[in-house]
Amino acid sequence: MSGTVWTIVVAAGSGQRFGRPKQFEDLGGRTVLEWSRAVAADCSDGVVLVLPASEVRPGDPHTVAGGSTRSESVRHGLAAVPADAEIVCVHDAARPFASADLFRSVIDAVRSGADGVVPALPVADTIKVVSPDGRVLHTPDRASLVSIQTPQAFRAQVLRAVHAAGGEGTDDASLVEAHGYSVITVPGERRNRKITHPDDLAWARAEVGE
Ligand code: CTP
Ligand code: MG
Repeated sequence: MSGTVWTIVVAAGSGQRFGRPKQFEDLGGRTVLEWSRAVAADCSDGVVLVLPASEVRPGDPHTVAGGSTRSESVRHGLAAVPADAEIVCVHDAARPFASADLFRSVIDAVRSGADGVVPALPVADTIKVVSPDGRVLHTPDRASLVSIQTPQAFRAQVLRAVHAAGGEGTDDASLVEAHGYSVITVPGERRNRKITHPDDLAWARAEVGE
């Protein structure tokens, strides 16, 4: 597969845990979103930005308004990806330090035949499954657990098919897996940390010497 690659950068969240929409915070003289958009643009034939409705630029077909969930935002983005795209990546605007190598790695793995590809890191903590009231139900073997990042890359027709069926997940691969397609991992990057809480942004600013 050698066709065109488009990346959807999802930036329509409200940043509940951060306290405000973190994607518009300054990081070394440009916004967190601008960092994410720039690397996506370097590694793709085109980029669709999914933004809060108030930020959408009228007349620009490659900025679209998001939805009330991440999955809905991705669906809005997919609708603006040209029909001839063969590979679609989805990237969180809140991950400003994903490298071009990481984009290439997930894209190359789709070109080599995978339906979906996600960057993964080993988990450092022991993870437990708990009930809503906090009771421990069981402890999966840490050796079998990984922490998943974006960019995630997919065969475009697979991503379109699973999103056409609806569904919600905290990433896109979960929908792809649920439909029985194969998803493989490539090594993630420790620096590709998601800005979630204010201390994540403080860390990112220190990384760029602020
Ligand atoms: N996102 C989106 N549309 C939504 C929800 C999330 O485009 N309805 C985007 C966010 O802007 C972010 C990425 O998905 O770039 C990952 O989501 P997350 O880190 O959870 O960001 P928020 O949803 O904004 O934060 P929170 O969950 O704390 O509210
Ligand atoms: Mg969220």
